[in-house]
Amino acid sequence: MPFRADCVELSDILYYIIAIVLGGRAAMRWLGGKGRTMELQQVIKERFSVRSFSNKPVEEEKIQKILEAAKLCPTAANKQPQVVYVLQSEESIAKINELSPCIYGAKTVFMICYDKDKAWKSPFIEGMDSGYIDTSICCDEMMLTAWDEGLGSCWLLFFNPIETAEAFGLPDNIVPTALLPVGYYADDTEPAPPHSIYRPMEEMVVRL
Ligand SMILES: Cc1cc2nc3c(=O)[nH]c(=O)nc-3n(C[C@H](O)[C@H](O)[C@H](O)COP(=O)(O)O)c2cc1C
Repeated sequence: MPFRADCVELSDILYYIIAIVLGGRAAMRWLGGKGRTMELQQVIKERFSVRSFSNKPVEEEKIQKILEAAKLCPTAANKQPQVVYVLQSEESIAKINELSPCIYGAKTVFMICYDKDKAWKSPFIEGMDSGYIDTSICCDEMMLTAWDEGLGSCWLLFFNPIETAEAFGLPDNIVPTALLPVGYYADDTEPAPPHSIYRPMEEMVVRL
């Protein structure tokens, strides 16, 4: 299944010309709504949870792009409490497989955490902080970036965060909120049936 459009669009060529002459931001402003947003729509529509990974190693350059997405994501009050652990050593991959049955053969797993001391604290709801929300945005942007790089991933909540923190010896202030196995997907991978089941828009959207 192709991840990206193979053709070079006129808007892409213009983007690079404007980027060279005016700089990247001006090019992005000019392009708002002129084609590149369609690429994002394509990623959103194509992505599915991958549950069978191949052994092909993920290039470090791609790992860096995914980590850059984690860095750039918005966070409450820009507190940036996210901490991303990259599990790739044999020992770490064996350990994470013991902690979750949902690693699906991935050889790279991001363990997405937040720092309780850094997260924004709600003045309205006692004990509520922005950690899970910030790291969910982070995980989603990492997942979409992975897809854009031709990689599959699967967001995982099926693990015990307390046991996981203990097993990896994380400091007390660091809370694991999601696992994201990432990799090239195996040839036989298909979206699971729930991927195509959506609630009707009328049921999901309420206009007040
Ligand atoms: C917060 C969250 C937790 C999830 N946890 C798991 C999990 O533990 N194991 C798993 O196989 N898939 C997990 N998924 C994947 C969902 O099952 C999947 O996104 C959903 O069925 C829709 O399918 P799709 O991602 O292919 O569109 C999770 C997804 C989200 C957003």
